[in-house]
Amino acid sequence: MNVEAWQAVESERQATRDLRLRELFAKDGRRAERFTLEAAGWTLDYSKNRITPALMRRLVELAEASGVERWRDAMFAGEAINATEGRAVLHTALRNQKAEPLLVKGEDVMPGVREVLERMGEFSDRVRTGKWLGFTGKRIKYVVNIGIGGSDLGPAMACQALQAYAKRSIAMYFVSNVDATHLMETLRAVKPEQTLFIVASKTFKTQETMTNAETAKEWLVQALGDKRAVARHFVAVSTCRELVEDFGIDVANMFGFWDWVGGRYSLPSAIGLPLMIAIGRRNYQKMLKGYFKMDQHFLKAPLARNMPVVMGLLGVLYSNGYGAESYAVLPYDQYLARFPAYLQQLDMESNGKSVDRQGRRVTCHTGPVVWGEPGTNGQHAFYQLIHQGTRLIPCDFIGFCKSHNPSGDHHDKLMANFFAQTEALAFGKTAEECRAEGVAERLVPFRVFEGDRPTNTLLAEELTPETFGALVALYEHKVFVQGVLWNINSFDQYGVELGKVLAGRVLAELVETEPPVLRHDASTNALISRYRAAQGRA
Ligand code: F6P
Repeated sequence: MNVEAWQAVESERQATRDLRLRELFAKDGRRAERFTLEAAGWTLDYSKNRITPALMRRLVELAEASGVERWRDAMFAGEAINATEGRAVLHTALRNQKAEPLLVKGEDVMPGVREVLERMGEFSDRVRTGKWLGFTGKRIKYVVNIGIGGSDLGPAMACQALQAYAKRSIAMYFVSNVDATHLMETLRAVKPEQTLFIVASKTFKTQETMTNAETAKEWLVQALGDKRAVARHFVAVSTCRELVEDFGIDVANMFGFWDWVGGRYSLPSAIGLPLMIAIGRRNYQKMLKGYFKMDQHFLKAPLARNMPVVMGLLGVLYSNGYGAESYAVLPYDQYLARFPAYLQQLDMESNGKSVDRQGRRVTCHTGPVVWGEPGTNGQHAFYQLIHQGTRLIPCDFIGFCKSHNPSGDHHDKLMANFFAQTEALAFGKTAEECRAEGVAERLVPFRVFEGDRPTNTLLAEELTPETFGALVALYEHKVFVQGVLWNINSFDQYGVELGKVLAGRVLAELVETEPPVLRHDASTNALISRYRAAQGRA
């Protein structure tokens, strides 16, 4: 992190750390308005944070000193900012609505982007209208996406988020885990002659995905009694044509993307195919428009009024200033139930790094732990700790004015909880207030709420494809901003590799018929031996 600019933030934070949100609101009648931003259909009220105008100025100066604008512009321009992998980072091209060319290594990437979108549109139209038929002539009723990580979490989360816009006669399933239970339970729910499998893998090498895809292929061929059925029931989404062909999928039924799309940023690429089948190409385009609007806001708004920048800075304030280890994302919308899980990969795989761009050990904490559950469920589970625990957990509350399922007073109740929680977290309840309510003296310490628990409130009119796209882009850019502030490369993920390599070695040892010579540590050796014995392979 830029040392001088961070020290300025720190001294301002120290100067304001004893201020209470109660006082700050009482002193400044314009506080809510001052700390509210609008972008791409979203309102962000960040007034319930431990900030003052002066502290926000220092934070914005930190963003300036760290080169947020320079890095942002370089990313949008297609520069190879993912330096360790020598790649551009151009997920923004996937939703770019402008006519001008966008060059990567001298080549305009936009015609390719448009061509894949068009092919996805034609294909999803055929599936949705029943023109794409299975091998036995029946229409598709089940779509099973086989992928993991970015090839699963994005489309799975989005299909649930936009279920209100989905064609209900096609059921969507997502299989990711190499635990066969995931695939087998899914296969029990579908009929082979009416199932379309989408094998989604950027590399087409991922162990879990390829294992599940091979098993699904065997199941289908056995059920339909003909290898030729694969062509009507399997399509692929990948960057690797050769491996798709090797698997036996006709490349005419392959939807490509590019190495400049990171897995966790790939939802608006062909990885979004299951979503397009579910909601149709028009709604999908609206989602891309929502992404684009937030992209444009991120590109053009001054840093102090820039939603992803402000959210990124606040996160850094809590992580590095207050030592917060995690933050909670709390969508008050059941459709966004998988959004926290999606964000875990987006944020933690991007910013879970401990060396900076120059390969030096970082000197401050980087990416936080991300977690969350939909409200109001979380209120009855972990909010106790957020309200009265010893840890500081900044929270993002996400809600909508209108429900897709208006029924009685459900939505008013949901939103009453939404607003009440941020109020309670910010302002708490003093001992005097408890006593005034008649709380017995011995219980007062237990009934006090300290308050000053920071929250962001994100509010939109309705969860639509547009507001959804904008929300995802908002978090993408927030994570980007934080990566710049910490001077790390948010776009590689070497940390996932060691475990994968070791698992390959262990797998060979687990299945060998002759007792293997185990050369791990004593703990791993013993565990492997115990497993082999249980399998009768001692
Ligand atoms: O293991 C991590 C990872 O490489 C993610 O970054 C990626 O989204 C996921 O695996 C799946 O990769 P692929 O799309 O190549 O199967």
